[in-house]
Amino acid sequence: MNLHTQHTKVSKADREDLLNQKSMLIWFTGLSGSGKSTLAVGLEKILFDKGFKTYLLDGDNIRQGLNKDLNFDEQGRVENIRRIGEVSKLMLDAGLVVLTAFISPFRSDRTLVRELVGEDRFIEVFADCPIEICEQRDVKGLYKKARQGEIKNFTGIDSPYEAPLQADIIVKTAEMKLNDSLDLLLEKVLPRVAKG
Ligand code: ADX
Repeated sequence: MNLHTQHTKVSKADREDLLNQKSMLIWFTGLSGSGKSTLAVGLEKILFDKGFKTYLLDGDNIRQGLNKDLNFDEQGRVENIRRIGEVSKLMLDAGLVVLTAFISPFRSDRTLVRELVGEDRFIEVFADCPIEICEQRDVKGLYKKARQGEIKNFTGIDSPYEAPLQADIIVKTAEMKLNDSLDLLLEKVLPRVAKG
């Protein structure tokens, strides 16, 4: 490939100094309806109110824009997460605290993102909720459609979800109150994003 990396005069470290924070990728993973978006939205608000410069990328939103050309077969999901990994990397370079809420069902894809941005910039959060409870809640009515065969390749029904083996943070969303979960997240995340 005839490509040469263009070097810039402003580094990630410069931007982090200016923003007075450490850029970090907080990666939420879990089944549809497991609560990952709720946790990410809640945590972003708390961090933002504390003065951190944040940005949240959410599966349902991104799939209506940047990734609207992708479906939910294996290839579509792999490409979805690859692109989000690259976008997140750019945002980390911009010095931001990035939160992502994608099912990201494949371990290998999450590992790729971890390696892409670097171990020290990646916090994996598992929104751990039994599928029976996600299905019982069925906030979006998608489990019902999947059971009726109206949606194919639905995660947990006819498409796999590979739970993290060594998540940095596990939140049992069916057992914990939202506020307690957010307290737990903040306690672990704050030391990693605060400067000095
Ligand atoms: S991922 O598997 O590629 O990471 P992503 O998080 O972007 O998924 O999108 C998941 C959201 O898309 C779900 O919350 C749900 O609202 C919707 N969706 C539509 N079809 C499917 C499907 N077949 N499997 C899972 N989620 C689906």
